[in-house]
Amino acid sequence: MAFPIQRLRRLRQHESLRRMVRETTLAPADFIYPLFVVEGRDRREAIASMPGQHRLSVDLLIKEAGEVKALGIPAIILFGIPDRKDEHGSSGFDPHGIVQRAVRAVKEHVPGLMVITDVCIDEYTSHGHCGIVRDGKILNDETLDCLRRMAHTHAEAGADMVAPSDMMDGRVAAIRKELDEGGFPDLPIMAYAAKFSSCFYAPFRDAAHSSPQFGDRQSYQMDPANGREALREIDLDIEEGADIVMVKPALPYLDIIAAARGRTLLPVAAYQVSGEYSMIKAAAQAGWLDESRAMMESLLAIKRAGADLILTYFAKDAVRLLH
Ligand code: PBG
Repeated sequence: MAFPIQRLRRLRQHESLRRMVRETTLAPADFIYPLFVVEGRDRREAIASMPGQHRLSVDLLIKEAGEVKALGIPAIILFGIPDRKDEHGSSGFDPHGIVQRAVRAVKEHVPGLMVITDVCIDEYTSHGHCGIVRDGKILNDETLDCLRRMAHTHAEAGADMVAPSDMMDGRVAAIRKELDEGGFPDLPIMAYAAKFSSCFYAPFRDAAHSSPQFGDRQSYQMDPANGREALREIDLDIEEGADIVMVKPALPYLDIIAAARGRTLLPVAAYQVSGEYSMIKAAAQAGWLDESRAMMESLLAIKRAGADLILTYFAKDAVRLLH
C-alpha cells in the first residue's frame, strides 16, 4: 500500500499531533554536566575556546553545582586542574588533591547532586599523557596502579561514581577490584569504553592544560576508523565490571552509539565533547547557525541513536529550554 493511501504528512500537520507521535524526547535526567575545578579562592576563569565555560575554584564550584541541581540535572562530572604536575601525575591521587577536595565540598554543600569523577592522569602529568611514560612509550600495567589509587581517593572523598577515561587495558577490572577490596563495592563505574583518538578534544585540552607534550594519544585511544574494535572495547569493559559504558565523542560516532545500544543491556552514555560544543558556539557567534536549535537537534540525535545519558557542556542551556 503506497501513495495515495499512505500519506506520512498526515501526522505532521499540527504541533499537538507531532508531539503525540514524537519518538524521542529529552529530559533533565538525561544530562551530566562537566565542570573544571582549579586551586585558589574566588577564581573564575573563562575558557576562551569554550564560550560560556569556566575554570572554577572550589568555593565557586559549590555555587555552580547548586545551580545545576536546582535545574534538575542529576549529576556533574569533575575535571581537576592542579597547580602541581609531575611524571606520575601524583597530585591526581593525593587524598587532598583538587578533585578530592572539590568532591568533599560539593557533597557537603549540595546534597543529592551526584558527583562523578573522571579518572585519568593526563591533567596531572607533566608530559600530558594518560599513562606513565618510559623511553617515549606509554606503559599500560604501570599506569593501572595510578588509576586505582586515584579512583580509591575519589571514593574516599565521597564520589558517587568513577569514570575512567584513560583507555589503558584492564583499568576497569583494576579499579573494580580496588573499590571492592577498599570497602566500596556499591560504587558504580562508568567506563569511557569506546573513546576515540579525536581532534574534537582540542578545546578541553586548552581548558585543562592537558595537551600531550610529545606525540599523540593514538597508541591508547581508538582509531576513528574502527567500529568493530569499539564493540570489543565495550564487551571487555562490561566483562571487567563496568556499570555504564560510554561512547566518546558523540555526534561523529552515532553509529557506535547505536551499535552499543543494540549490543548491551547496560545503560549507554555518550559524551558530546568540547569540540562538538565549540563548533556550535562558533557557528552561532558567526551568525551561521541558530545556537539553541543546533544544540537541541544534536542532543536529540545522540539520544535517538541510543544514548541513555549525555555528558554535555550544553546541559544547563538545554534544560532551561525544556522547562
Ligand atoms: C581525559 C579526558 C579528555 C576528555 C575527557 N577526559 C581529554 C583527552 O582525552 O585528551 C575530553 C572531553 C572533551 O573534549 O570535552 N582526562
